Amino acid sequence: MSASVRVELGERAYDVRIGAGALGSLASNIRDALGATPARALLVIDRGIPHERVDRIAGELERAGTILTRAQVDPSEQIKSLETYGRLLESAAQARLERTDPVIALGGGIVGDLGGFVAATYRRAVPVIQAPTTLLSMVDASVGGKTGVNLSSELGGRRRLLKNFVGAFHQPRLVVADTNMLASLEARVFRAGLGECVKHAMISGSDELLSWTETNADAILSHDAAAVGELVSRSVTLKARVVAGDERETQADGGRALLNLGHTFAHAIETLDGVSPRGSDEQGLQHGEAVAIGLVAALASGEALGMAPPELAPRIRALLERLGLPTGAAGLPRADDLMSAMIDDKKTVGGRLRLIVPTGAGQARVVQDPPDSAVRAGLAAIGAP
Ligand SMILES: NC(=O)c1ccc[n+]([C@@H]2O[C@H](COP(=O)([O-])OP(=O)(O)OC[C@H]3O[C@@H](n4cnc5c(N)ncnc54)[C@H](O)[C@@H]3O)[C@@H](O)[C@H]2O)c1
Repeated sequence: MSASVRVELGERAYDVRIGAGALGSLASNIRDALGATPARALLVIDRGIPHERVDRIAGELERAGTILTRAQVDPSEQIKSLETYGRLLESAAQARLERTDPVIALGGGIVGDLGGFVAATYRRAVPVIQAPTTLLSMVDASVGGKTGVNLSSELGGRRRLLKNFVGAFHQPRLVVADTNMLASLEARVFRAGLGECVKHAMISGSDELLSWTETNADAILSHDAAAVGELVSRSVTLKARVVAGDERETQADGGRALLNLGHTFAHAIETLDGVSPRGSDEQGLQHGEAVAIGLVAALASGEALGMAPPELAPRIRALLERLGLPTGAAGLPRADDLMSAMIDDKKTVGGRLRLIVPTGAGQARVVQDPPDSAVRAGLAAIGAP
């Protein structure tokens, strides 16, 4: 299947092209989106993508007449940094990119966030084309224009990695999600993307996307092309709608903030040393795994606040487990320590904590300054001592 979803943002509107083999027409899609074939481009490449695929994509762009400069990134939250950003800016300068020449981010969410931020700031902004190659970046990170890097900083006497602390809104001119790229993903990385898909279903406004995901879980896990294509296009449609309604996350109650469901908890735990998915031999946490765990915490907080109906948490847990996602973490620090880390998180507004709380199937609300007891209930549910 192939689909195109329009992100309706007035003069910044753009298309998300989704389908098996969609990158085969990247050059012509770029020409249509930019109005001309660019003379030059910086191709930021995720080291995880098989070389032959990269060569094929780069070759097509060069044959169309674009002089490409390639820059490789070996993704991790540690290298999503100001240093890597600086190195990529230098590559853009060495490539002699002009104001109309794009950065093309070919990779997962880390490459997309880095490439987008370089494009947002190099010579006060050049176009960015997002070519996401993980499930997570297809359904979430590549759409919506949030770009940036983590900041390593001394806080409270210890060095912390502050997620996405430095960044800019910079909408892509085009997103091309080629679902064939998912074939080479490690199974764990593919599953992690499903964490954001479940999050989208939980804020979609109705039960429909949640029920659809439950019905199609097996087909999705077995990489059934039709099911995965539909999953990506349903998820992107939801994200596009939310972003179009609140591009810069300025609505106080709802809007784009709802996309942070699970993230206050996820950001607090995902970069901690020694934390891993509960009940598994895997080390560390993928972002999407941390989001899945964060969803469980948000549900428990919601129950403690009397806002989440009691049948919702078991239903979501069952879905996450079926999708092979963790519902708790091993090696978590004490709840007190985690709470102070959460206060430092950038999602604190005016020094207060903000939680997104599920209130029904497909429904969620923003809670400013939640009581400590509700946050503790969330942390206890995911295994914090
Ligand atoms: N900007 C946003 O709105 C937004 C939204 C959600 C998440 N994010 C960010 O996205 C990041 C997570 O992204 P991610 O989950 O894609 O992780 P990632 O970018 O770390 O990629 C995961 C792994 O997959 C590998 N990989 C990528 N494409 C591949 C392919 N086709 N074949 C084989 N391996 C491949 C990468 O090399 C990496 O090892 C986080 O930093 C998160 O903060 C941003």
